[in-house]
Amino acid sequence: MTLEVQDLRVRFDVDGGEPVEAVRGISFAVEAGDGLGLVGDSGCGKTTALLALMGLLPPTATVSGQIRYAGRDLLAGGEAGMRPHRWKDIAMVFQGAMNAFSPVTTIGRQIAEPMRLHGLASGKAATRRAGELLELVGIPAQRADRYPHEFSGGMRQRAAIAMALACDPKVLLADEPTTALDVIVQAQVLELIDRLRRELGLAVVFVTHDLPVVAQVCQRVAVIREGRIIRTEEVPA
Ligand SMILES: Nc1ncnc2c1ncn2[C@@H]1O[C@H](COP(=O)(O)OP(=O)(O)OP(=O)(O)O)[C@@H](O)[C@H]1O
Ligand SMILES: [Mg+2]
Repeated sequence: MTLEVQDLRVRFDVDGGEPVEAVRGISFAVEAGDGLGLVGDSGCGKTTALLALMGLLPPTATVSGQIRYAGRDLLAGGEAGMRPHRWKDIAMVFQGAMNAFSPVTTIGRQIAEPMRLHGLASGKAATRRAGELLELVGIPAQRADRYPHEFSGGMRQRAAIAMALACDPKVLLADEPTTALDVIVQAQVLELIDRLRRELGLAVVFVTHDLPVVAQVCQRVAVIREGRIIRTEEVPA
């Protein structure tokens, strides 16, 4: 299995209040080319679960259970165990990512940022790779030197996906990647994610509150309520 999550739990300590049990024992596994949907109402713990897989929760969070990537338990070694896998093996498109680009930096520079951070590419090589990534998500490479306001919402969401793919991950966590897009653009972004899953052999974990959306990119859907998976279904082909 590429990614195996066993009994994942997240508790947030809250100043002067009861702790919040946001994730209460979630288990699932995905392999190359799998599309798994996590569906549930607002506040059921979807984003918290994904952030736990990235090791990006705030210090007030206590995470337990097992997160195994290629057989290795990422939680066992704390931040040091997580860091080598973040972005390189497991990457995430954050909820609202299309609106999170800095307005003062070109899209290409922002896409290249994770590569620079990981020392995978710099200078001209990083610029070239940013162009390739844009092409991969259906945007002409020359647009790399445009600013976010020159992109439509759908293009910014594609660019956010390109950015997540910068370090060539095996697992893509996508948090509500089509929310706030109109229906036609939403369908195009779903098609893109489906194509990337098939062509790159990505394992995709797709989070949404919208069950019909998930059927377009996932073969399995897990329904989450109050931090727990209450049922898992195969999506009819
Ligand atoms: N940093 C935090 N500190 C305390 N509680 C938090 C924190 N982050 C999230 N929570 C709580 O954890 C629960 C799960 O939140 P989460 O954002 O994971 O839900 P979600 O399923 O992604 O919702 P949505 O569909 O609205 O994005 C909620 O009760 C939320 O208030
Ligand atoms: Mg969320």
